Amino acid sequence: PASALIDRFGRRVSYLRVSVTDRCDLRCAYCLPKDFHDYREPADWLDFDELTRLIGAFAQLGVGRVRLTGGEPLLRRDLPMLARRLKALPGLHDLSLSTNGTQLERHAEALARAGIDRVNISLDSLDRACIAELTGRDTLGAVMAGLRAARAAGLAPIKLNMVALRGVNDHEIEPMAEFCFEHGFILRLIETMPMGRTGRDARHLDLGPVRERLVTRFGLVPEAQELGGGPARYWRSADGRARIGFITPISQHFCASCNRVRLAVDGTLYPCLGEEERFEFRPLLRGGASDAELADAIRLAIERKPERHHFREAPERIVRFMSQTGG
Ligand code: GTP
Ligand code: 5AD
Ligand code: SF4
Repeated sequence: PASALIDRFGRRVSYLRVSVTDRCDLRCAYCLPKDFHDYREPADWLDFDELTRLIGAFAQLGVGRVRLTGGEPLLRRDLPMLARRLKALPGLHDLSLSTNGTQLERHAEALARAGIDRVNISLDSLDRACIAELTGRDTLGAVMAGLRAARAAGLAPIKLNMVALRGVNDHEIEPMAEFCFEHGFILRLIETMPMGRTGRDARHLDLGPVRERLVTRFGLVPEAQELGGGPARYWRSADGRARIGFITPISQHFCASCNRVRLAVDGTLYPCLGEEERFEFRPLLRGGASDAELADAIRLAIERKPERHHFREAPERIVRFMSQTGG
């Protein structure tokens, strides 16, 4: 569109990640501290009217992809009702969800009916004890049931997000790839990012060598087709059936082609995951701002989007936890 959102570095913003709650039922070691309870007050959560209006304003400015995140988004009550309203927004063509999968079995059908196109599901291991240790709960069975329900509901493609940690699950990468190939899931391997005190993980694993290992083992070639709107770089097997994505914010960052911004549940817009820059939309929404004022505020926020993150140079910089913006 003529009114597309272009930042100072010529990047077009077309993807909005929306954290619908900062709460989570898990405590993944790389994300939230075990004793974390410092959640936003419900009075500050944008309600469905406010979310629909604000996301609609982004859609009018050419943001065609919206991903619902958390915390754990399925903890937000009546999420399918929100999905249905978002799906109806003019300009929106890709509505997706990132979930930890623990409650997906119950919700998959309703989400698909409400217009969620596809889901990305966190799964760091196929070993019960490892999952329990890493997430704080014994959830493997529930997530497996969630995966089956998502597939039965027609949510596709299904991507599995595996945060790779040295000495924790790196020996499980090949088995996880086999599991995904067998079931038709797209595996994505993710490098940990230093956010909050949990993210500064000494077990960080550089995925460069892992990729070389997998390319040899499975005979992978670069995938030409675009698979979603995110930062993953994909490879596929020669027959095209098996696909693996690599998300390498640290070893090979992808900021030059960044297309996204993220909205927290309290209406704070973060134009970059790895910077503290922020813009508050709640006061505008609750203070009677006109549609034109809202659009101007969005343009201003995009104009100030930082060029890139500095996770490598300044790993102490981001004090907020990943769960606040859902990645
Ligand atoms: P697709 O639309 O399917 O491509 O989704 P996605 O990969 O963008 O979303 P998902 O929620 O599954 O995120 C996977 C991983 O990528 C998480 O660890 C996110 O934190 C990370 N990620 C997503 N967007 C960004 C980004 O803009 N910058 C950085 N550094 N990491 C990101
Ligand atoms: N670094 C990288 N990825 C993370 N995620 C959560 N915390 C981090 C982190 N510190 C991932 C989750 C989920 C996705 C949305 O973000 O595993 O798959
Ligand atoms: Fe975009 Fe910032 Fe993520 Fe880099 S770190 S890809 S600039 S949001």
